[in-house]
Amino acid sequence: MRTAQQKMRPAPQAEPSYGEATSPVSHRNRGGTLDACSFGYYEYRLRSMTALELNHALRALWPELNPEKTVDRIIAGNPDQVIEAVAVCWMPYSEALRQAVALGANTVVAHEPTFYDHWELRQEPQHARFHEAKEEKQKLIEELGITIMRCHDVWDILPEIGVPHEWGRFLGLGEPSKREKYYHVYSVEPAPAIEWTQRLASKTKSAGQATLQLYGDPQRVVTKIGIGTGCASAGETLFDMGADLAVAVDDISRSWIIGEYCNDTGNPLVVVSHGVSEACAMGSLAEKIRELLPGVTVNVIPQGAGYREITG
Ligand SMILES: [Fe+2]
Ligand SMILES: [Fe+2]
Repeated sequence: MRTAQQKMRPAPQAEPSYGEATSPVSHRNRGGTLDACSFGYYEYRLRSMTALELNHALRALWPELNPEKTVDRIIAGNPDQVIEAVAVCWMPYSEALRQAVALGANTVVAHEPTFYDHWELRQEPQHARFHEAKEEKQKLIEELGITIMRCHDVWDILPEIGVPHEWGRFLGLGEPSKREKYYHVYSVEPAPAIEWTQRLASKTKSAGQATLQLYGDPQRVVTKIGIGTGCASAGETLFDMGADLAVAVDDISRSWIIGEYCNDTGNPLVVVSHGVSEACAMGSLAEKIRELLPGVTVNVIPQGAGYREITG
Protein backbone atom coordinates (compact mmCIF):
# COMPACT_ATOMS: atom_id res chain seq x y z
CA MET A 1 0.00 0.00 0.00
CA ARG A 2 1.48 3.36 -0.92
CA THR A 3 1.10 6.34 1.32
CA ALA A 4 -0.23 9.73 0.32
CA GLN A 5 3.14 11.21 1.24
CA GLN A 6 4.94 9.47 -1.57
CA LYS A 7 5.56 10.90 -5.01
CA MET A 8 4.72 14.47 -4.21
CA ARG A 9 6.09 17.78 -5.23
CA PRO A 10 5.03 21.38 -4.59
CA ALA A 11 2.03 22.72 -6.50
CA PRO A 12 2.84 25.12 -9.35
CA GLN A 13 2.33 28.78 -8.58
CA ALA A 14 1.27 29.71 -12.08
CA GLU A 15 -0.65 28.02 -14.87
CA PRO A 16 0.68 24.51 -15.36
CA SER A 17 2.77 23.64 -18.35
CA TYR A 18 2.87 20.04 -19.34
CA GLY A 19 6.03 19.55 -21.27
CA GLU A 20 9.61 20.69 -21.06
CA ALA A 21 11.65 20.17 -24.18
CA THR A 22 15.39 19.62 -23.83
CA SER A 23 15.97 20.17 -27.54
CA PRO A 24 14.57 22.99 -29.68
CA VAL A 25 11.72 21.39 -31.57
CA SER A 26 8.00 21.54 -31.17
CA HIS A 27 5.85 18.45 -31.08
CA ARG A 28 2.23 17.59 -30.53
CA ASN A 29 2.87 15.08 -27.85
CA ARG A 30 3.10 17.49 -24.95
CA GLY A 31 2.03 15.75 -21.82
CA GLY A 32 3.30 14.23 -18.63
CA THR A 33 5.25 11.02 -18.65
CA LEU A 34 7.48 10.02 -15.82
CA ASP A 35 10.64 9.42 -17.76
CA ALA A 36 12.66 10.89 -20.57
CA CYS A 37 11.28 10.00 -24.00
CA SER A 38 13.17 9.60 -27.23
CA PHE A 39 11.79 10.65 -30.62
CA GLY A 40 14.50 9.86 -33.19
CA TYR A 41 17.15 12.57 -32.92
CA TYR A 42 15.19 14.51 -30.37
CA GLU A 43 15.27 13.92 -26.68
CA TYR A 44 12.62 15.29 -24.40
CA ARG A 45 12.33 15.22 -20.71
CA LEU A 46 8.61 15.55 -20.13
CA ARG A 47 7.50 16.67 -16.75
CA SER A 48 5.34 14.36 -14.76
CA MET A 49 1.88 15.71 -14.05
CA THR A 50 0.30 16.13 -10.66
CA ALA A 51 -3.36 15.52 -9.92
CA LEU A 52 -3.93 19.26 -9.65
CA GLU A 53 -2.36 19.83 -13.05
CA LEU A 54 -4.59 17.21 -14.63
CA ASN A 55 -7.58 18.83 -12.96
CA HIS A 56 -6.54 22.19 -14.48
CA ALA A 57 -6.01 20.59 -17.88
CA LEU A 58 -9.49 19.06 -17.83
CA ARG A 59 -11.05 22.31 -16.69
CA ALA A 60 -9.30 24.15 -19.51
CA LEU A 61 -11.23 22.06 -22.05
CA TRP A 62 -14.24 24.27 -21.36
CA PRO A 63 -12.92 27.83 -21.07
CA GLU A 64 -16.34 29.21 -20.04
CA LEU A 65 -16.28 27.13 -16.87
CA ASN A 66 -16.74 29.27 -13.77
CA PRO A 67 -13.77 28.32 -11.56
CA GLU A 68 -15.56 29.54 -8.44
CA LYS A 69 -18.71 27.54 -9.00
CA THR A 70 -17.53 24.35 -10.62
CA VAL A 71 -17.45 21.05 -8.76
CA ASP A 72 -14.60 19.93 -11.02
CA ARG A 73 -11.85 20.05 -8.42
CA ILE A 74 -9.69 17.85 -6.26
CA ILE A 75 -12.11 16.13 -3.90
CA ALA A 76 -9.84 14.03 -1.69
CA GLY A 77 -6.21 13.05 -1.32
CA ASN A 78 -3.17 15.06 -2.21
CA PRO A 79 -3.48 17.51 -5.13
CA ASP A 80 0.31 17.47 -5.53
CA GLN A 81 0.59 13.72 -5.85
CA VAL A 82 2.36 12.80 -9.06
CA ILE A 83 0.13 10.71 -11.29
CA GLU A 84 1.32 7.15 -11.78
CA ALA A 85 -1.79 5.70 -13.38
CA VAL A 86 -5.39 6.85 -13.65
CA ALA A 87 -8.72 5.10 -13.16
CA VAL A 88 -11.86 6.75 -14.53
CA CYS A 89 -15.29 5.97 -13.15
CA TRP A 90 -18.79 7.40 -13.15
CA MET A 91 -19.30 7.04 -9.38
CA PRO A 92 -16.39 6.69 -6.95
CA TYR A 93 -17.96 4.04 -4.75
CA SER A 94 -15.59 2.67 -2.10
CA GLU A 95 -15.43 -0.55 -4.11
CA ALA A 96 -14.50 1.41 -7.25
CA LEU A 97 -11.64 3.04 -5.34
CA ARG A 98 -10.31 -0.40 -4.32
CA GLN A 99 -10.62 -1.53 -7.93
CA ALA A 100 -8.68 1.55 -9.02
CA VAL A 101 -5.79 0.68 -6.71
CA ALA A 102 -5.88 -2.96 -7.85
CA LEU A 103 -5.41 -1.61 -11.38
CA GLY A 104 -2.33 0.30 -10.24
CA ALA A 105 -3.92 3.75 -10.21
CA ASN A 106 -3.07 6.41 -7.65
CA THR A 107 -5.42 8.94 -9.23
CA VAL A 108 -9.16 8.60 -9.77
CA VAL A 109 -11.16 10.83 -12.09
CA ALA A 110 -14.84 10.50 -11.22
CA HIS A 111 -17.89 12.15 -12.73
CA GLU A 112 -20.06 12.14 -9.64
CA PRO A 113 -19.46 13.05 -5.98
CA THR A 114 -17.40 11.00 -3.60
CA PHE A 115 -19.29 12.04 -0.46
CA TYR A 116 -23.05 11.65 -1.00
CA ASP A 117 -23.81 15.23 -2.01
CA HIS A 118 -23.17 17.43 -5.06
CA TRP A 119 -20.91 19.66 -2.91
CA GLU A 120 -19.37 16.74 -1.02
CA LEU A 121 -21.16 17.80 2.21
CA ARG A 122 -19.04 20.95 2.38
CA GLN A 123 -21.78 23.51 1.96
CA GLU A 124 -24.85 22.33 3.83
CA PRO A 125 -25.06 19.83 6.68
CA GLN A 126 -27.00 16.68 5.78
CA HIS A 127 -28.07 13.67 7.83
CA ALA A 128 -25.41 12.61 10.34
CA ARG A 129 -25.11 9.21 8.64
CA PHE A 130 -23.68 10.81 5.53
CA HIS A 131 -21.10 12.75 7.53
CA GLU A 132 -20.08 9.59 9.41
CA ALA A 133 -19.78 7.67 6.16
CA LYS A 134 -17.70 10.52 4.72
CA GLU A 135 -15.23 10.24 7.62
CA GLU A 136 -14.91 6.48 7.07
CA LYS A 137 -14.43 6.93 3.33
CA GLN A 138 -11.79 9.58 3.91
CA LYS A 139 -9.86 7.07 6.03
CA LEU A 140 -10.11 4.50 3.23
CA ILE A 141 -8.88 7.04 0.68
CA GLU A 142 -5.89 7.83 2.89
CA GLU A 143 -5.10 4.13 3.33
CA LEU A 144 -5.30 3.58 -0.41
CA GLY A 145 -3.05 6.59 -1.04
CA ILE A 146 -5.18 7.86 -3.90
CA THR A 147 -6.21 11.29 -5.04
CA ILE A 148 -9.72 11.80 -6.38
CA MET A 149 -10.79 14.57 -8.71
CA ARG A 150 -14.14 15.26 -10.23
CA CYS A 151 -14.73 15.88 -13.91
CA HIS A 152 -18.44 16.65 -14.00
CA ASP A 153 -19.31 20.09 -15.33
CA VAL A 154 -16.86 19.91 -18.22
CA TRP A 155 -17.89 16.42 -19.29
CA ASP A 156 -21.60 17.30 -19.14
CA ILE A 157 -21.19 20.25 -21.50
CA LEU A 158 -18.37 19.32 -23.87
CA PRO A 159 -19.52 18.98 -27.51
CA GLU A 160 -18.98 15.78 -29.48
CA ILE A 161 -17.39 13.70 -26.71
CA GLY A 162 -19.28 14.80 -23.61
CA VAL A 163 -22.08 12.95 -21.84
CA PRO A 164 -25.17 13.69 -23.98
CA HIS A 165 -23.33 12.90 -27.21
CA GLU A 166 -21.97 9.61 -25.90
CA TRP A 167 -25.36 8.72 -24.38
CA GLY A 168 -27.11 9.28 -27.72
CA ARG A 169 -24.52 7.11 -29.46
CA PHE A 170 -24.82 4.41 -26.81
CA LEU A 171 -28.57 4.27 -27.51
CA GLY A 172 -27.89 4.00 -31.24
CA LEU A 173 -29.63 7.29 -32.01
CA GLY A 174 -26.89 8.72 -34.23
CA GLU A 175 -26.48 12.47 -34.37
CA PRO A 176 -29.01 14.91 -32.86
CA SER A 177 -31.35 16.93 -35.09
CA LYS A 178 -31.73 19.54 -32.34
CA ARG A 179 -29.45 20.44 -29.48
CA GLU A 180 -29.72 22.88 -26.59
CA LYS A 181 -26.87 22.70 -24.11
CA TYR A 182 -27.51 19.47 -22.15
CA TYR A 183 -30.55 18.41 -24.18
CA HIS A 184 -30.63 16.55 -27.50
CA VAL A 185 -33.49 15.54 -29.82
CA TYR A 186 -33.02 12.83 -32.44
CA SER A 187 -35.22 12.15 -35.50
CA VAL A 188 -36.01 8.44 -35.60
CA GLU A 189 -37.89 5.92 -37.68
CA PRO A 190 -41.60 6.17 -36.74
CA ALA A 191 -42.68 3.39 -34.37
CA PRO A 192 -44.96 3.03 -31.33
CA ALA A 193 -43.48 4.13 -28.01
CA ILE A 194 -43.46 0.58 -26.72
CA GLU A 195 -41.31 -0.60 -29.65
CA TRP A 196 -38.84 2.23 -29.16
CA THR A 197 -38.71 1.49 -25.45
CA GLN A 198 -37.88 -2.15 -26.19
CA ARG A 199 -35.11 -1.05 -28.59
CA LEU A 200 -33.70 1.28 -25.94
CA ALA A 201 -33.87 -1.49 -23.33
CA SER A 202 -31.86 -3.76 -25.63
CA LYS A 203 -29.08 -1.14 -25.38
CA THR A 204 -29.31 -0.38 -21.65
CA LYS A 205 -29.22 -4.10 -20.85
CA SER A 206 -25.46 -4.16 -21.36
CA ALA A 207 -25.12 -1.51 -18.62
CA GLY A 208 -27.12 -3.49 -16.09
CA GLN A 209 -30.63 -2.25 -16.83
CA ALA A 210 -32.69 -4.71 -18.85
CA THR A 211 -36.04 -3.17 -17.93
CA LEU A 212 -37.10 0.42 -18.50
CA GLN A 213 -40.04 2.29 -17.04
CA LEU A 214 -42.50 3.59 -19.65
CA TYR A 215 -45.14 6.15 -18.72
CA GLY A 216 -47.77 7.48 -21.12
CA ASP A 217 -49.41 5.85 -24.15
CA PRO A 218 -47.39 2.83 -25.31
CA GLN A 219 -49.01 2.99 -28.78
CA ARG A 220 -48.25 6.69 -29.41
CA VAL A 221 -46.16 6.89 -32.59
CA VAL A 222 -42.71 8.30 -31.91
CA THR A 223 -40.66 10.20 -34.52
CA LYS A 224 -38.43 12.25 -32.22
CA ILE A 225 -36.64 11.00 -29.11
CA GLY A 226 -35.27 13.46 -26.56
CA ILE A 227 -32.47 12.75 -24.11
CA GLY A 228 -30.60 14.87 -21.61
CA THR A 229 -27.49 14.85 -19.47
CA GLY A 230 -27.88 13.22 -16.09
CA CYS A 231 -30.39 15.19 -14.06
CA ALA A 232 -30.67 17.79 -16.85
CA SER A 233 -33.17 15.53 -18.59
CA ALA A 234 -36.57 16.82 -17.49
CA GLY A 235 -39.38 15.30 -19.56
CA GLU A 236 -41.24 18.61 -19.83
CA THR A 237 -38.16 20.31 -21.33
CA LEU A 238 -37.70 17.50 -23.85
CA PHE A 239 -41.38 17.70 -24.87
CA ASP A 240 -40.99 21.49 -25.26
CA MET A 241 -38.12 20.81 -27.68
CA GLY A 242 -40.37 18.69 -29.88
CA ALA A 243 -39.56 15.22 -28.55
CA ASP A 244 -42.51 12.83 -28.68
CA LEU A 245 -40.69 10.35 -26.45
CA ALA A 246 -38.57 11.68 -23.60
CA VAL A 247 -35.79 9.68 -21.95
CA ALA A 248 -35.11 11.01 -18.46
CA VAL A 249 -33.08 9.71 -15.54
CA ASP A 250 -34.53 8.30 -12.35
CA ASP A 251 -32.94 10.94 -10.13
CA ILE A 252 -35.03 13.68 -11.77
CA SER A 253 -38.24 11.88 -12.83
CA ARG A 254 -40.80 11.85 -10.05
CA SER A 255 -43.60 9.36 -10.70
CA TRP A 256 -46.12 11.55 -8.88
CA ILE A 257 -45.35 14.62 -11.00
CA ILE A 258 -44.07 13.89 -14.53
CA GLY A 259 -45.26 10.27 -14.31
CA GLU A 260 -48.80 11.37 -13.55
CA TYR A 261 -48.63 14.04 -16.28
CA CYS A 262 -47.48 11.50 -18.89
CA ASN A 263 -50.09 8.91 -17.92
CA ASP A 264 -52.82 11.58 -18.07
CA THR A 265 -51.72 13.10 -21.41
CA GLY A 266 -50.27 10.02 -23.09
CA ASN A 267 -46.86 11.63 -23.69
CA PRO A 268 -44.38 8.75 -23.56
CA LEU A 269 -41.64 9.02 -20.95
CA VAL A 270 -38.91 6.44 -20.48
CA VAL A 271 -37.09 6.49 -17.14
CA VAL A 272 -33.57 5.14 -17.07
CA SER A 273 -30.98 4.78 -14.31
CA HIS A 274 -28.77 7.86 -13.94
CA GLY A 275 -25.68 5.66 -14.00
CA VAL A 276 -26.65 3.93 -17.23
CA SER A 277 -27.09 7.29 -18.95
CA GLU A 278 -23.67 8.62 -17.94
CA ALA A 279 -21.24 5.74 -17.39
CA CYS A 280 -21.24 5.24 -21.17
CA ALA A 281 -19.40 8.56 -21.47
CA MET A 282 -16.47 7.56 -19.27
CA GLY A 283 -14.68 5.91 -22.19
CA SER A 284 -14.37 9.20 -24.06
CA LEU A 285 -13.22 10.90 -20.84
CA ALA A 286 -10.50 8.27 -20.43
CA GLU A 287 -9.48 8.80 -24.06
CA LYS A 288 -9.10 12.55 -23.46
CA ILE A 289 -6.99 11.89 -20.35
CA ARG A 290 -4.74 9.57 -22.39
CA GLU A 291 -4.19 12.48 -24.80
CA LEU A 292 -3.29 14.76 -21.89
CA LEU A 293 -1.06 12.15 -20.24
CA PRO A 294 0.65 10.20 -23.01
CA GLY A 295 2.40 7.11 -21.71
CA VAL A 296 0.34 6.93 -18.53
CA THR A 297 -2.06 4.02 -18.08
CA VAL A 298 -5.67 5.13 -17.94
CA ASN A 299 -8.30 2.48 -17.18
CA VAL A 300 -12.07 2.77 -17.07
CA ILE A 301 -13.88 1.02 -14.24
CA PRO A 302 -17.00 -0.39 -15.90
CA GLN A 303 -20.19 0.87 -14.29
CA GLY A 304 -23.82 1.41 -15.24
CA ALA A 305 -26.96 0.99 -13.17
CA GLY A 306 -26.13 1.81 -9.58
CA TYR A 307 -28.30 -1.03 -8.27
CA ARG A 308 -28.80 -4.75 -8.79
CA GLU A 309 -31.72 -5.72 -10.98
CA ILE A 310 -33.75 -8.45 -9.26
CA THR A 311 -36.71 -10.16 -10.84
CA GLY A 312 -39.24 -12.18 -8.86
FE1 LIG B 1 -23.35 14.35 -15.65
FE1 LIG C 1 -24.97 12.97 -13.29
